[in-house]
Amino acid sequence: MSYADYLHLDELLSCQHPRTGQHDEVLFVIIHQATELWMKLAVHELRAAMRQIDADELAPAFKMLSRFSRIQSQLIQSWDVLSTMTPADYLTFRDSLGSASGIQSVQYRLIEFYMGNKNERYLTHFTPGSEAHERLSTALREPSIYEAALLLLVRRGFTLSLDPERTDWRAAHVPDASVAAAWLEVYRDTARHWDLYELAEKLVDIEDWFRQWRFRHLTTVERIIGAKRGTGGTSGADYLRKALETRLFPELWDVRTAL
Ligand code: HEM
Repeated sequence: MSYADYLHLDELLSCQHPRTGQHDEVLFVIIHQATELWMKLAVHELRAAMRQIDADELAPAFKMLSRFSRIQSQLIQSWDVLSTMTPADYLTFRDSLGSASGIQSVQYRLIEFYMGNKNERYLTHFTPGSEAHERLSTALREPSIYEAALLLLVRRGFTLSLDPERTDWRAAHVPDASVAAAWLEVYRDTARHWDLYELAEKLVDIEDWFRQWRFRHLTTVERIIGAKRGTGGTSGADYLRKALETRLFPELWDVRTAL
């Protein structure tokens, strides 16, 4: 077994097929592929962390969420490489992308669904019956990582106005007074609720990094295409700016004010 055999490098390094001979298209292809690889690991970690929370095994979940955060940090850094590409460089190959867009990334959408940013309309980017559509439909119906944490609060004796027997979790979480009261209790007595407090802060970490990724994407997009429409058909920067308003774990941000 050689290094190249173990890593299937022949296959991995044969998957870069720029559609033009333009210098910067190689960067564009590789940055997207590298991001998809990191997202594959992110999905693996996030999903495993959710299962550990379901099993009341918080210590391994914390380790996985820390790794997920470091992956997010890595992905944020990658915008520095991409932003060396100027608008003129991008225009040399943009037409060759057709209607391909990150909005069609299955793994990105899975991460969003696992983090609770659920919206059925995103499924329209995937063919019904395809494996991608099935994976996303399943993730849409499952509790998000935040809902897994709320179910843990219920198991620990907190009274929340959510039904633990619910089988379909496709509706996105809306801010809830009973959830806010539970987190306030945790933050007011951290010594007593130390592991829940630690979990809450890990969740704030991942949402914080997620917001930073979105912000760097938006800024990079603005410096490369300005206010032009996206290849995926949205309004472009305006669409991405709107996503910055998303609050995934609202009560965890609100508890700071309440304390
Ligand atoms: C030249 C660089 C880039 C430009 C101009 C760009 C532009 C855009 C635009 C305009 C959108 C909105 C959807 C659309 O209409 O297409 C979008 C979405 C998206 N892009 Fe990029 N992008 C760039 C690089 C990247 C990279 C490197 C990634 C990493 C995989 C990425 C991932 C995504 C994702 C996941 C979405 C969906 C976001 C959402 O729905 O909230 N983009 N991009």
